[in-house]
Amino acid sequence: MARRDIQLDEEGRLRHFLTIEGLDQPLLTEILDKAEGFIGVSQQAIKKVPLCRGKIITNLFFETSTRTRTTFELAAKRLSADVLSLNISTSATTKGETLLDTLRNLEAMHCDMFVVRHADSGAAHFIAQHSAPHVSVINAGDGRHAHPTQAMLDMLTIRRIKGEFVKLRVAIVGDILNSRVARSQIHALNTLGTSEVRVIAPYTLLPAESRSLGVHVYHDLQEGIRDVDVVIMLRLQRERMRGAMLPSEHEYFQLYGLTEQRLRAAKPDVIVMHPGPINRGVEMDSQVADGPRSVILQQVSHGIAVRMAVMSMCIGTQNARIARREASVSGLNP
Ligand code: NCD
Repeated sequence: MARRDIQLDEEGRLRHFLTIEGLDQPLLTEILDKAEGFIGVSQQAIKKVPLCRGKIITNLFFETSTRTRTTFELAAKRLSADVLSLNISTSATTKGETLLDTLRNLEAMHCDMFVVRHADSGAAHFIAQHSAPHVSVINAGDGRHAHPTQAMLDMLTIRRIKGEFVKLRVAIVGDILNSRVARSQIHALNTLGTSEVRVIAPYTLLPAESRSLGVHVYHDLQEGIRDVDVVIMLRLQRERMRGAMLPSEHEYFQLYGLTEQRLRAAKPDVIVMHPGPINRGVEMDSQVADGPRSVILQQVSHGIAVRMAVMSMCIGTQNARIARREASVSGLNP
């Protein structure tokens, strides 16, 4: 079954959010528009809306995370859901229970949504395939595969500052090979019609299929960031590197580290992004990270709004399913 089938219900509404791949421009735009509407909730005296009241959302983080887990948790709370954050290291999975047994137990507790982060590519997809029809699954990062909510919060940040994607030139710099963020960003940028998407990386940190992803490949930082509107820096994902892919962090910084001086090759109003956590002095120096072109902390704030958008859309799809079922039981919709 194609991914698209599993993420959408029969009316094309979002049921799970596992990958950007296969989703169309109107759906991505709907997520961004909804998220835009949720930004104001954080500025209200009472930071809550009732869209997921009475729902149970469970965070299942099999891999460490601070930003992503916290913003998912805050997003669920702002939607008025009841939130469970399972501490996997002390949970029954470490006592030998299988992942599916854990899921069955959570389903028996009537959880409505699982937010999953896992070191294995495809884990969220596997959970979605094996969960009950009333459960939605959101991928919070699986191996090197996808991190769709990160990509969408990046798109929201870009759209709010730069406007239309069709006019933009965007460069993604660094460890493309090991980055689930880059993969999701490339799909999102291309689907939203970005004029030019570039990737800049050493040969060892580029996946073999790079060009087929619809990007222009550069190996020289200065050349690659010339006249771009947006620079997205990536963390060196050492935990996913097999063997020595880099001479040293010092040498990496000499070639690919972003400094104020190097940034001058880009457009004067360029913005600098990073999904975090930043390695200062490796991907970029502190002057850039904390400088006027950096929008890194805005990305974090937008993460809450985007996660609220995706969660409320999936719960809305589940509510529509429940309403259809109730209508057919009561004979209104035979
Ligand atoms: C990213 C991740 O975990 O994939 N971080 C994040 O979600 N904020 C990128 C990274 O770890 O470098």
